[in-house]
Amino acid sequence: MDCFEITGPNRLQGRIRAAGAKNAALPALAATLLAEGTVELTGLPQVRDIDTMTRLLEHLGTRVERDPDDLGTLRFLPSGSTVSDDADYDLVKTMRASILVLGPLVARLGHARVSLPGGCAIGVRPIDQHLAGLEALGAKVTLEHGYVTARCDRLVGNRFRFSVPTVTGTENLLMAACLARGTTVLENCAREPEVIDLARLLTRMGAQISGAGESRLEIQGVDSLGGARHQVIPDRIEAGTFLVAAAITGGDVELEGSAPADLAPLLEALAGAGCTIDTGPSSIRVAAGEPLRSCSIETAPHPGFATDLQAQFMALMTQATGRCSIHETVFENRFQHVPELVRMGATIQVDGGYASVEGPTPLSGSHVMATDLRASASLVLAALVAEGTTVVHRIYHLDRGYEGMEEKLRTLGARVVRTTE
Ligand code: EPZ
Repeated sequence: MDCFEITGPNRLQGRIRAAGAKNAALPALAATLLAEGTVELTGLPQVRDIDTMTRLLEHLGTRVERDPDDLGTLRFLPSGSTVSDDADYDLVKTMRASILVLGPLVARLGHARVSLPGGCAIGVRPIDQHLAGLEALGAKVTLEHGYVTARCDRLVGNRFRFSVPTVTGTENLLMAACLARGTTVLENCAREPEVIDLARLLTRMGAQISGAGESRLEIQGVDSLGGARHQVIPDRIEAGTFLVAAAITGGDVELEGSAPADLAPLLEALAGAGCTIDTGPSSIRVAAGEPLRSCSIETAPHPGFATDLQAQFMALMTQATGRCSIHETVFENRFQHVPELVRMGATIQVDGGYASVEGPTPLSGSHVMATDLRASASLVLAALVAEGTTVVHRIYHLDRGYEGMEEKLRTLGARVVRTTE
């Protein structure tokens, strides 16, 4: 199993480009199941979750063409009547986002059988809203033997209000409603940039959608969807991770190909911590402030502070002067990185959804264990400023969502090597 050996302290400096967004690419891949024409997706990140979703689509009968000259481009050829409706456990168990094939399959075929996503380190993560939404569109949904089965003659437009603004729930219903008969109104939707990007792709395929990015979406169903060409948006979470890396190392880093508006809460918090922020139409530059000041945050659905940046910001606050509170409101178990940061020397107390961080405390190189994608990113950031060598174990978590992290870090001057345990 691979691990990272990071020798600190480091000061990051330079310019890198954000990869395509994993959380925009995954629903885009699922949406290809709706198409009766070829869909070409470009700007796809080279991360393991994209491989997993591509394998799932091939298992379902989609023909996928890879571009030898551009690994970030995949062409999805319509598979007509050979689409299978069965997303089995072996494929789904490795990635919860596989549930995103449920809406497109039942909308396109009138039936789908998808393994229920298993447990997750960051929370229970039920899919009740995905299922309730499909039932509102007339699907008959049953849960048996660890599988969701959904059946209908044709989905029928209806009004549905999410009890929580779920990202993949909104994406699943948005895709399903595109082929329903009549109009669907979805309320209390997620407003994430990745949802907007999915609506952009579906509209290119011929869907009729209004309100993307707002909490109320209206979809006028159509009889069929065609092919399209679509470039996925840049990864704001990857960009945010590297901007925090600049701040924690006392460095100066510019992210090209990133959208400042999608990271407003993080940039505000970094400015509050004393960093200098410069933004262009598609670039963000962060230069660390000296000393870093403590700054409390509270995570929330977009446009709030992204929960996927909470762990990274906590690592930063271990090096800031003062005490701050980090309130995680989206997931009930997203402080798995705390014991590992404490092992490195951080001062953090957790009480339910609140973590109190006191700093600055010197960190020392240690063996630490990654538990999930974003927690592992926070351990890498802490290791960049720790004295001596840190070994971050189980970086397969990182490879799920960060494209070439060690190369990008080295480009910015970090001493990091990937080794095998
Ligand atoms: C998406 O997960 C992202 N994944 C997550 O990123 C991200 O953390 C999350 O949104 C929140 O921003 C992808 O886009 C592939 P939710 P998702 O449904 O859609 C509750 C990463 O690191 N809920 O918006 O699964 C749920 O338990 C990953 O890249 C229900 O109660 O998250 C949670 O508390 C991790 N019932 C809250 O809503 C439902 O039916 C938000 O979850 C659905 C969700």
